[in-house]
Amino acid sequence: MIIIATKELIKNQPEFKRDIVADINDLKGFQKEIQKTQNVLEKITIYDIGKIDIKNKDQLKIKDHINKSGINPIIKNETINKITFEDISNIYKTKEGHTTTCCGKKINLDYSNPSHYLCVFSIILFYLGYKNLQAYLVNYDKTESSINVFNQWAKTGKDEGMKKNHFPAFEEAKKTIKQFCENKTITLADIGCGNGWATQDLNKETFINKATGYDGSLEMIKKAKKTYLETDFFRMDLNSWSPKQTFDIIYSMEAIYYLSSPEKFISDCYTKWLKNGGLFIAALDHYKENAQSLSWPEDLNVKMQTKSANEWKNILEKNKFRHCNIEYVNQKKDWNGTLIFWGIKDAL
Ligand SMILES: C[S@@+](CC[C@H](N)C(=O)[O-])C[C@H]1O[C@@H](n2cnc3c(N)ncnc32)[C@H](O)[C@@H]1O
Repeated sequence: MIIIATKELIKNQPEFKRDIVADINDLKGFQKEIQKTQNVLEKITIYDIGKIDIKNKDQLKIKDHINKSGINPIIKNETINKITFEDISNIYKTKEGHTTTCCGKKINLDYSNPSHYLCVFSIILFYLGYKNLQAYLVNYDKTESSINVFNQWAKTGKDEGMKKNHFPAFEEAKKTIKQFCENKTITLADIGCGNGWATQDLNKETFINKATGYDGSLEMIKKAKKTYLETDFFRMDLNSWSPKQTFDIIYSMEAIYYLSSPEKFISDCYTKWLKNGGLFIAALDHYKENAQSLSWPEDLNVKMQTKSANEWKNILEKNKFRHCNIEYVNQKKDWNGTLIFWGIKDAL
């Protein structure tokens, strides 16, 4: 079986397993890639991303499509023009499933189950003779809604509990940070800083020259800026974080499991945003061994990356961080504690 995922899907969910990425701006490349498969009877499953109308459904089987993408892939297609027009009404070979409206670049929520370019690739495959096709619509993940949830928290004052809940782990993480800082000039980024209480605390510490806060929630950032005038805060979706500088320390409390690919984020921290010898340190309450936290994605209706302590540490190690370590803070009955894990870039 061959799995094809559209570029839009991979952009949103880089970890999505696929054999071929279908790029609308490179239809020739797509055709070339698929034609490496000589067996036209091979089963091909194609996935596009969009918005599923049915609540709480991550994937939807597609039985038909409406093409509103503005692209007709069989016109001006040298390979395809040689083939006669055929009935494509049963292109996905199934009577079960739903219809998607392919909208092109921008999803139009007025249509049912809108997707991007699924139909374009399916039609190409069909006319090239690959007729054992099935298709699925993948729901846009809910990262954005995590930001919405925290916008609500900031508006309703629920964010104020975060300092109280995270303070013991913060104090512990700060000890590791302080040790690391000895006799150096240090810049620090607080990733997913929320209302900024920890950024401010770190910015005031003598062992840190400058701490800057980054968060995706506009309401959190507004609050942080208003409360802590001497500290810098920026609103940024960390899924595409691109700060204007590099840092000695990247610190994050209770935030990176909301990202669509924490793996990519950590890898980018290593390759792009940490200085040589820099420290990456993160603290999390939601992880596999902390049983009480496992219902959170459902409770909040927010997608979270649920990993074990070792899986988090392995991500650091895979990315060549050295001196990687984990620690649990504030363990109680039925609460495995806050997991703190860290590693150093290019350490000897
Ligand atoms: C549980 S709060 C933690 C806040 C803060 N670190 C603290 O200890 O109080 C998680 C934060 O992650 C932020 N967040 C979630 N997803 C994000 C994303 N994709 N980009 C930027 N921030 C995000 C939320 O807006 C929220 O402020």
